[in-house]
Amino acid sequence: MKMVKIYLFTRFERIWHWVQMLLIFMLIITGFEVHGFYTLFGFESAVKLHNFLGITWCILVVFIIFWMLITAEWKQYIPTTQKLFEVAKYYLFGIFQGKEHPIHQTRESKHNPLQRLIYLGLISSVLPVQIVTGLLYWTYNDWQGWGLTGFLDLQIVATIHFIIAVYLIHFIIIHVYMTTTGHTPTAHIKAMFSGYEEIPEDTPVAVWAIKKPKNV
Ligand code: HEM
Ligand code: HEM
Repeated sequence: MKMVKIYLFTRFERIWHWVQMLLIFMLIITGFEVHGFYTLFGFESAVKLHNFLGITWCILVVFIIFWMLITAEWKQYIPTTQKLFEVAKYYLFGIFQGKEHPIHQTRESKHNPLQRLIYLGLISSVLPVQIVTGLLYWTYNDWQGWGLTGFLDLQIVATIHFIIAVYLIHFIIIHVYMTTTGHTPTAHIKAMFSGYEEIPEDTPVAVWAIKKPKNV
């Protein structure tokens, strides 16, 4: 099958994805040390490192949100039920029978309906709640001055923060598995580094992308 390349992930997008991944990996490692699961950096250093990484991540997220807004890339995450069932059926059965993926990626629509739902849930709910609970945890000593002591309970904040950390580990495992389901196991991962995804030359999208005049 002859493949052609289409440009899917812009430079900033690739940078934010991999930097965010590194930060979240390190936050998971230091967070679980703070929780008491193991000793790696030593408790004090783990706490300091965790807080530093947490604040760095918050700053990165501000840039990501800004980028999403000015490039209108947030539209990529608008959920749709169109072909959602077909895509779910493909990942449950079709993929093991060598069937063709029901969706062809384009620059305007990078994600299939399932990815849209998963990524939307992640970036609109899971990650923001992790940031808010992290910041609340970090500013615990100020709660009284801010009049928050009556409304908030540290135990609840810490539990939500911990549960999301565990959720993220599960997300990463499924996410990495899903990224290996391209036409070769490393195709999507390479695309997240180079920006270019390979698709079969004879798919309607590829034909359109190649013939599309530059000014359209
Ligand atoms: C994906 C991102 C993050 C993960 C996976 C994560 C994970 C964790 C985990 C597992 C704990 C231990 C919770 C416990 O058992 O009490 C923890 C504690 C903590 N996290 Fe995070 N965290 C993240 C982001 C953040 C952010 C953005 C901040 C904000 C600065 C933050 C601040 C804290 C603080 C202050 C603690 C308590 C440390 C202490 O005991 O002094 N975290 N985190
Ligand atoms: C903390 C961990 C991670 C988070 C939060 C995360 C999040 C995301 C998000 C939100 C997207 C969609 C980006 C877009 O809109 O274009 C994405 C795409 C992608 N991620 Fe990750 N990711 C993580 C870790 C990883 C790892 C470990 C790998 C591979 C080794 C990976 C490989 C990819 C690839 C190949 C894509 C593009 C294909 C696709 O859209 O599914 N990610 N990731």
